[in-house]
Order: sequence, then structure tokens, then C-alpha cells
Amino acid sequence: MGLGIWYEQRILPHLIHYACGTGSIMKQRALLIPEAEGLVLEVGLGTGHNLPFYRPDRVKRIHAVDPALAMHALAEKQARQISIPVEMVPLAMERIDADSAQFDTVVCTFTLCSIADVEAALQEMRRVLRPEGHLLFCEHGLAPTESVQRWQRRLNPVWKPLAGGCHLDRDIPGLLKRAGFRIEDMHSGYVRGPRPMTWVYRGRAVPG
Ligand SMILES: C[S@@+](CC[C@H](N)C(=O)[O-])C[C@H]1O[C@@H](n2cnc3c(N)ncnc32)[C@H](O)[C@@H]1O
Repeated sequence: MGLGIWYEQRILPHLIHYACGTGSIMKQRALLIPEAEGLVLEVGLGTGHNLPFYRPDRVKRIHAVDPALAMHALAEKQARQISIPVEMVPLAMERIDADSAQFDTVVCTFTLCSIADVEAALQEMRRVLRPEGHLLFCEHGLAPTESVQRWQRRLNPVWKPLAGGCHLDRDIPGLLKRAGFRIEDMHSGYVRGPRPMTWVYRGRAVPG
């Protein structure tokens, strides 16, 4: 096993589990995920940090896609702790094999930063979401101040290979709008941690 593969399979899942599980990030999840309802598609399940926040009285089933098999073992542990059925599919969102307009809610948290073809993935999210459904998002991205943006651009080339392809400076509201979503509600601000990594957009969007 090469060093890169060893890092991605053995180390990265634990680093992501830790970084995505800090108190201030879990608070964002607690504010967002209980809004999910019906048949849910979770994009980039990761190690399953959102799973405890879904309400069993509102959510029928969770279909979760994530191409990184190394994450699935940790996510399975979380899935076993909840009463909602979770189906884990080892596919990239861009390659999802799902009918159009079938999900009531699409959930995407801290994932748009890492998707290689983020535009194509967002188009697919819009396609599989029912016209009256919701996209719930919580993503870090482009900070509002020029000085932090400069650091985000400087750090990107070093950060990306270490953090599973994560881009620090993606314009999340711009990407959503260009993919045909209308943002109904959005909160943004810094959570705890270094500023280039912690400007967070949390909200709800609908197919426009
Ligand atoms: C930083 S982790 C976040 C995990 C989880 N969403 C959370 O909130 O803790 C990013 C996740 O996106 C997944 N990912 C990367 N590219 C993807 C793609 N094309 N489609 C779906 N998931 C993808 C990664 O494998 C990783 O599990």
C-alpha cells in the first residue's frame, strides 16, 4: 500500500471524524438536521455525524452516498444506533443511480468543499429532489473578508491533498444559485477554529 493510499484509508477518516465532530460543528448539525423529513438523500455521509440528529417521527429512510469506503465502517457504527433505516451507497453524487424527483430532503454538510465536480453533483441533487422538497446545507467556504480569502487561496494547494480534496474558498451560495436552487433561509458566520476553515453557511434551499 502506497503512502498516499495508506493516509487516505487509515488516517484521513479519523482526522475527518475528529474535525467534523467538534462542539461548534455539532451545534450546526443540531440546528439543521431535525428539519429533514420523508425520504432523505444524504450526500457525503462521511463518518455519520448527522445520523443522531434525524427525527425518527419525521424521516422514513436515509439513502446515503459517499464514494470513500474507508468512511463507511465508522458510519455503520452510528447507523446501528438509530431506528431509521440507513442505506449506504459507495458512489459519488455525480454518479448517483436514482430516479428524478424521488427525495423529500437532500442533506449536504461539509461536503461541497470536497466534491471534484461540484456543479455536476449539485445538478444531480436538484434532479433527484422533489419539486416541493428541500436541500438542507451546512458548508464551510469563501469568507467575506479579503484578508481571509487571501489565506484561503494560499492554503488551498497544501490543504487539498491533506484534507480529502477540500477547497477552502468555494462560494457556496453562488454554486447553489447557479445550480438552480433558490435559497429560502441562510445563516452565515465563523464557528470556532482557524478563520480560513471556519466561515460556515447553513440553510435551506428549494429547486428554483
Ligand atoms: C469533510 S467530509 C464530511 C462528511 C459529512 N458530510 C459530515 O458532515 O461530517 C466530506 C465527505 O464528502 C465525501 N465526498 C467526496 N466527494 C464526494 C462525491 N463526489 N460525492 C459524495 N460524497 C463525496 C468524502 O468521501 C467525505 O466523506
